[in-house]
Amino acid sequence: MNELLAQLVPVLYLLSAVLFILGLKGLTKVRSARRGNAIAALAMLIAVVATLVDLGAIDYRWILIGLVVGGAIGAVAALKVEMTAMPEMVALFNGSGGAASALVALAILWFDIVEPGTAGTPAEVLGGSNGLTAFLSILIGGVTFTGSVVAYLKLSGSLRGRPGWLAARNLINSSASVVAVGVGLYLTYGAGEPASVALWALVLAAIGLVFGVLLVLPIGGGDMPVVISLLNSLSGVAAAATGFVLDNNVLIISGALVGASGLILTQIMCRGMNRTLGHVLFADFGDEDLTGGDTEYTNVRSSSAEEAALVLEDAESVIFVPGYGLAVAQAQHTVRELADLLIARGASVNYAIHPVAGRMPGHMNVLLAEADVPYEQLKEMDRVNPDFKTTDVAIVVGANDVVNPAAETTPASPIYGMPILKVTDSRSIFMIKRSLSPGYAGIKNELFEHPHTRMIFGDAKQVLQELVDELKGLA
Ligand code: TAP
Repeated sequence: MNELLAQLVPVLYLLSAVLFILGLKGLTKVRSARRGNAIAALAMLIAVVATLVDLGAIDYRWILIGLVVGGAIGAVAALKVEMTAMPEMVALFNGSGGAASALVALAILWFDIVEPGTAGTPAEVLGGSNGLTAFLSILIGGVTFTGSVVAYLKLSGSLRGRPGWLAARNLINSSASVVAVGVGLYLTYGAGEPASVALWALVLAAIGLVFGVLLVLPIGGGDMPVVISLLNSLSGVAAAATGFVLDNNVLIISGALVGASGLILTQIMCRGMNRTLGHVLFADFGDEDLTGGDTEYTNVRSSSAEEAALVLEDAESVIFVPGYGLAVAQAQHTVRELADLLIARGASVNYAIHPVAGRMPGHMNVLLAEADVPYEQLKEMDRVNPDFKTTDVAIVVGANDVVNPAAETTPASPIYGMPILKVTDSRSIFMIKRSLSPGYAGIKNELFEHPHTRMIFGDAKQVLQELVDELKGLA
C-alpha cells in the first residue's frame, strides 16, 4: 500500500468513529432519527472502505460473494418483514452480530495458529491481550447468538412459559460460567499445540452456545425487554473484543458504542419494569405457568363505537394509551385521525408512552412517528401519570400488561412491581381489543372489570375508524 493511503486509513477511521457518535446522537430524537440512521450508515461505509484499503491486495471475490449473499438476504428480510415482526428481526440482527464476532475470532485462531501449525499458546502467538480478547469474543459471541435465537422464538410466540428446571437455574448458570472461564483461560494460556487450540476453541464456542440458551430460556413474561437490550449490548461487547483481536480501532470504538448504549437501554428498561438486572437474570419467580391461572371474567361491560363517540363528544381531555395491538392492527394513522378530530373539537389530546409497551424499545414512538403524531403529544409514563386524574377519557388501544393493576396489587404476579399507566384515575376508560385474551405476560387483567372501564371489542384500526365516522356524523 502506498504511503499516502497508509496515512489516510487512521484518518478515515477517526472520521467514521465521529460519524457513528453523531449518528447515535441523531437517533436519540424522533425528529432527527432518520438523519442519524443515514449518518451511521455513511460511517459504516467509510469504515468498510478504509478496512479494505488497509488490507491492501486481497482476493475481492469472497468479499463480493459475501456482499451479494448477505445483501440479498438482508434486502428480502427487510422488505418482507411485517412492522409487528420488527422486534424479532432486531433480535436476529443482534444474534448475527454475536455470531460474526465469534466466527472472526475462531478464524484468527485457525489461520494464525492451527492451519500454519504454529507452536505456542494464543497468548504467545497473538499477544497476551489479543489471546484473551479472542477467548472473550468466542464466548460472548456464542452467548449472544443462541440467546438471541431463543429471544426470537419467545418474541414470535413459538416458545412460551418456563422450563421445569427453573429452580436449578442459578446453580446451572453459575457452573456454566465457571466452566466457560476455565476453558477460556486454558485455551488462551494453556493450549500450546495447534490441535489443542482447535479443540479447546471449539469446546469454548459450544459452551458459549449452550450458555446463551440456558441464560435466556428461563426468563419469562414481561422481562423480555431487558433481555433484548442486554443482548444488544453483548453483541457490541463481542464486536469490541473482536476489534482488539484484529487490532482494528474502528471496530473497537463501534463495538464499545453499541455495548455502552445497549447497557444504558438495559438500565432504562429495568427502570421501566422496576427490576434490577440481577433480578431479571437470577431471581427465581417459582415455576408458575404464565399462560394459566384464573382468566375468567364475570363483570365486564362493553360499549359500541356509537356509545363511545357520545362520551368523546363531550370530552375536554383525552389520553390514548397505545400498546402492542396498535402495531398489530397498524392503526397508527387512524388513531392520529381520531386525535385530530378531537383536537378540532377543542379537546386536549396526549399519548401515554410506557417504556416497555409493544415488543421493542421505542416501539410506540416509532409507530406514532410514522403517522406524524406531533412529538409534543407523546408523554413518557412519569410525566403523564399525574395527568390521568384530570382526564375525561383514557382510550387504551391494544395495550394490556402496561395498564394491568396486578402490577401494583398482586405480589405473586410475574409483572408485580412494574410501574403502570394509571388509567383508572381517569373518569372513563375505553379499552379497544379483540377479546378478553391476556397480553404478553399471559395474565388476567382486572382493568377489564373496573367500574370506569368499557370494552370496545374489535380490531383496533376498525374500531378507531368507526369512532372517527361516528364523531364526524355528530359534527
Ligand atoms: P400486551 O400486554 O402484549 O397486550 C397487547 C394486546 O393487544 C393483547 O391483549 C391483544 O388482545 C391486543 N391486540 C392484539 N392485536 C390486536 C388488534 N389487531 N386490535 C386490537 N387489539 C389487539 O401489550 P402492551 O400492553 O403493549 O405490553 C407489552 C408487553 O410486552 C409487556 O408485557 C412487555 O414486558 C412485553 N415485551 C415488551 C418488549 C419491549 S422491549 N417493549 C419486548 C418483549 C416483551 P386481543 O388478542 O384480545 O386483541
